[in-house]
Amino acid sequence: MTVKTFGVVGAGQMGNGIAQVAAASGLEVIMNDIKTEFVERGLQAITRNLNRAVEKEKMTAADKDALLNRIKTSVDLKDMASADFVVEAATENQTIKFQIFKDLDEICGAQAILATNTSSIPIGRIASQTQRPDKVIGMHFMNPVPVMKLVEVIRGLATADETFDITWDLSLKFGKTPAEASDFPGFIANRILMPMINEAVYCLYHGVGTRENIDTVMKLGANHPMGPLALADLIGLDTCLAIMETLNDGFKDSKYRPCPLLRKYVEAGWLGRKTGRGFYEYTKS
Ligand SMILES: NC(=O)c1ccc[n+]([C@@H]2O[C@H](COP(=O)([O-])OP(=O)(O)OC[C@H]3O[C@@H](n4cnc5c(N)ncnc54)[C@H](O)[C@@H]3O)[C@@H](O)[C@H]2O)c1
Repeated sequence: MTVKTFGVVGAGQMGNGIAQVAAASGLEVIMNDIKTEFVERGLQAITRNLNRAVEKEKMTAADKDALLNRIKTSVDLKDMASADFVVEAATENQTIKFQIFKDLDEICGAQAILATNTSSIPIGRIASQTQRPDKVIGMHFMNPVPVMKLVEVIRGLATADETFDITWDLSLKFGKTPAEASDFPGFIANRILMPMINEAVYCLYHGVGTRENIDTVMKLGANHPMGPLALADLIGLDTCLAIMETLNDGFKDSKYRPCPLLRKYVEAGWLGRKTGRGFYEYTKS
């Protein structure tokens, strides 16, 4: 199957990044969210990125316009009927994702591949919501999508080889380096990264260090480009908490227990950069 029309469900920080790289590779893109203001915000984020690329002379204004013209916005999931390949990048919530996959299964053509950008929810669990588990796969991009090279590709038990090959080739077409991970909660990236971030939050909670010292120690001591608390703010604390809940639920091991301080921040609406406040404060652009 040749992928020509590429759907993205969820126009948040990951969804709009995925839409941008797909359109940059020449595909026709449909970017969907539940409200017009959310898809417009996603499109504005893409436009800002591309404007910066034009200013830095990495792209011509004509190429920018052509890329933007390849992205159609949608607030009706039925628009995905014309997509050959859909990536779901909605909120990290199992109930939301289950419903989206049930709906996409009814809306999309029989040959369409349904991928999920979930950070942690097992692919087989999502695939079982559909009548086409052979065409469901994990395609896990990293944040920020236009910059980060990795795509984790995850087969569910029933994922067909053809589905895997198409997803792998699409990752390459987007200029990314795919790496395969098995279908366990958190896959590879978040099985390793998120417990570290959670431990950093415990360090803050227990007063082992200030936010600045925790981040400085990991930047200079472990050679990480960002400290774990700044990275948590970039990812979104709601997403971090959801991933820890999935690890905790999946492995039933207390080492994955989300830090109460992380939960407290999420309950307060301090979700990180996207809300202007997390472990650090941000001025909204
Ligand atoms: N943030 C990261 O660093 C990161 C990295 C890799 C993967 N992910 C995963 O990507 C997904 C999205 O994360 P994000 O950081 O972009 O979150 P986000 O909060 O920025 O965006 C989520 C978007 O999904 C939309 N949405 C919710 N329900 C929807 C529905 N039923 N239909 C369509 N849209 C819906 C929301 O309105 C919102 O715009 C999550 O599964 C997350 O785990 C996140």
